[in-house]
Amino acid sequence: MDFIPYGTQWIDEDDINEVVSVLKSDWITTGPKIKEFEDALCAYVGCNYCVAVNSGTSALDIAVQSLNLPEGSNIITTPFTFVATSNAIIYNGLKPVFADICGDTFNIDPEDIRRKITEDTKAIIYVDYAGQPCDIKAIREIADEFDLYLIEDACHAIGAEYDGIKIGNFADLTIFSFHPVKHITTGEGGAVVTNDEGLYERLSLLRSHGIDKDAQNRYGPDASWAYDMKYLGRNYRITDFQAALGISQLKKLGWFIDKRNELALRYQEILRDVDVVTLPEVKDNVRHVWHLYTILLDGSIDRDEFFKYMRNANIGVNLHYIPVYRHSYYVEKFGIDAEEFPVTEDVFKRIITLPMFPRMSEQQVEYVVTSISQAIDHLKK
Ligand SMILES: Cc1ncc(COP(=O)(O)O)c(C=O)c1O
Repeated sequence: MDFIPYGTQWIDEDDINEVVSVLKSDWITTGPKIKEFEDALCAYVGCNYCVAVNSGTSALDIAVQSLNLPEGSNIITTPFTFVATSNAIIYNGLKPVFADICGDTFNIDPEDIRRKITEDTKAIIYVDYAGQPCDIKAIREIADEFDLYLIEDACHAIGAEYDGIKIGNFADLTIFSFHPVKHITTGEGGAVVTNDEGLYERLSLLRSHGIDKDAQNRYGPDASWAYDMKYLGRNYRITDFQAALGISQLKKLGWFIDKRNELALRYQEILRDVDVVTLPEVKDNVRHVWHLYTILLDGSIDRDEFFKYMRNANIGVNLHYIPVYRHSYYVEKFGIDAEEFPVTEDVFKRIITLPMFPRMSEQQVEYVVTSISQAIDHLKK
């Protein structure tokens, strides 16, 4: 069997033609395709505003910056995520404070958020792990009680729903990523969506050096050359050919999500009765979009040996995630005690990510599942 990755893009001829037509046009960056992509994302999500940027990481960075939080502020987030989530807090000179996760969904635990709140807490960044929305109702109640901003890192969860409403309509700011392993891709890319006009205006400037081109009021009505740098922004612009790819991919998102759900169901049917494996739990009030399909092994199987066995079988199993506080930068800067996070630690030691991507064939699923059974027979103590 050829190598089966844990995730990969699906680019078709339509996508290629859209990109080529932009490459042949006069605008390859900061042209009309950006707004068209943003409008298409808003229409899909059902929200008012969108700012497309060059990565999910950039989107997180300007989302935090747009809140303009006072020096010394803390933002509570999950440690069970990619480092970009909490790095965005540090980029902005603020302090990440981690809360433990729930043992069933691996999403941030609202009860632990509550325990971690101090007078310096100003926001929460919650991550919809693997594509399953967090307990948004509980998080919103906490935010309202303590007057906190909410940022939803939905890099795993475009198209997911909570109580029948699409993600992108709950937090003050919601982040998407268009990296190739995600549901739709622009190569690299990301976006912030919001229903708050003021935040949208700030984000639009922060994407491009914090520069306001509408600066006539400073230099007079004839000064069409005028621009004014209002904030310390960076160059986080996405190109028009990437946006063209995004528009084309977005048309297929519903179908990509259906395929991921079919694959998840197939894994579930076959693995349900394997006693050393715990399958992901899905809450009743959500639509899960399965960016990742993970399983938990019980204590009778050594996860690292299992990982090695699967990799030797040419299966690109992976590990999402090493808890952020374990990375050496975080250890040196914050010296966080892993014992504070018993659930994250337990999950980290037992979890493994199986391949999951829309183009995955029935034959590949069968091969992965057969290899899991063989690994278990081989490794069970
Ligand atoms: C939860 C989460 N947040 C943020 C990011 C960063 O996105 P990007 O790779 O587009 O910068 C990722 C990427 O994997 C992610 O998984």
